[in-house]
Amino acid sequence: MEAVMSERMLRREFLTAAGKVVLVIPAAAFLANCGGSSSGMNQQGNSLTVTSSSTLGHNHNLSVPFSDIDQPPAGGVELSTSTASPYGIGTHSHVVTLSTDDLTSIMNGGAVSVDTSTVSDHHHSFTIQMG
Ligand SMILES: [Fe+2]
Repeated sequence: MEAVMSERMLRREFLTAAGKVVLVIPAAAFLANCGGSSSGMNQQGNSLTVTSSSTLGHNHNLSVPFSDIDQPPAGGVELSTSTASPYGIGTHSHVVTLSTDDLTSIMNGGAVSVDTSTVSDHHHSFTIQMG
């Protein structure tokens, strides 16, 4: 008597293909798709608008043009805040200076904190970030 054994070996090969997907999102598209004002930021029209800290009972808005964020000028930018007319201080605005590095950081999604110029013995702070 013979016992015949038959063996089958099945081999399966799994081929794994690894690929990389690189997403390139132009800043303009990123800007266009950002929205919301719950954090005090508003992206409408051609600029990113943020609200300052409150000092002496008032604050100011600052509008940073998207064109300056998209293509930061070599020397940075100097921007004026909105005016406010708090009691005891009077109508005034402040100046905010953003360097090229600041604008580049904002373009890349970073948060940039800056202080305004001092007017009538006070200043404010802005945190600028695309939301
Ligand atoms: Fe002020």
